[in-house]
Amino acid sequence: MSVSIKSPAEIALMRESCRLLSEVFKEMSQMIEPGVTTMDINKVGERVIRSFGCVPNFLHYEGYPAAICVSVNDEVVHGIPNKHRKLKEGDIVSLDCGLIYKGYHSDAARTYAVGEITPEAQQLIDVTKQSFFEGIKKAKAGNHLYDISAAIDDYVTPYGYGIVKDLVGHGIGTSLHEDPQIPNFRQRKRGIKLEPGMTLAVEPMIAAGGWEVSWLDDDWTVVTEDGSLAAHYENTILITDGEPEILTIER
Ligand code: MF3
Ligand code: CO
Repeated sequence: MSVSIKSPAEIALMRESCRLLSEVFKEMSQMIEPGVTTMDINKVGERVIRSFGCVPNFLHYEGYPAAICVSVNDEVVHGIPNKHRKLKEGDIVSLDCGLIYKGYHSDAARTYAVGEITPEAQQLIDVTKQSFFEGIKKAKAGNHLYDISAAIDDYVTPYGYGIVKDLVGHGIGTSLHEDPQIPNFRQRKRGIKLEPGMTLAVEPMIAAGGWEVSWLDDDWTVVTEDGSLAAHYENTILITDGEPEILTIER
């Protein structure tokens, strides 16, 4: 395993890649309402990415057929946009998107409410988002990678939620997926030591029920086995000497 340390020049490119991605999310998030199709959101996301002169990094990644992933309700991640799939009142929808700017990748995900949702669904969204922030409190130079994993686990588990184990966060830079893998649950080892200049995509995927997932026949869409709702929250971050910098956060 080799974890890349970005130079100051590379960090500047990562920052810009991630800043542009946060602009894409601003546009996509405004579309979330009953009646919009998951393909409508994909089209806007791809159009905004290309308007910046950037390339969607998910498109054609291992054969993935779209620019973004749109996962509704019990779909955890990697839902394929579909022009017949309309969002409806009460759904929760996760958007996962990334882009390439001058060779540097960004990656982020958010879960949104479609109209009015149940308090239970809102709590799942809120806890998933907060678990990211709990995790990155440990994302400091000198700490170990799995301190992040344990902090996410410690925050989420008391809610009785399932933490998805089959998919993990990752390093990111000149590739979408670099070393190291970043599990969202406690590990027996400590993992690598974190160093300034590492760029990581931390992305808890949380189910209201059990952690077990399966794949639909499209070979992409990951769903909860028990049909419970799932949420996803992801940012690309930079490890510094102090607090981590959240590169994909909306400003
Ligand atoms: N955002 C996903 C991740 O963090 C990548 C989506 S897989 C793709 O790993 F095929 F859709 F690109
Ligand atoms: Co990711």
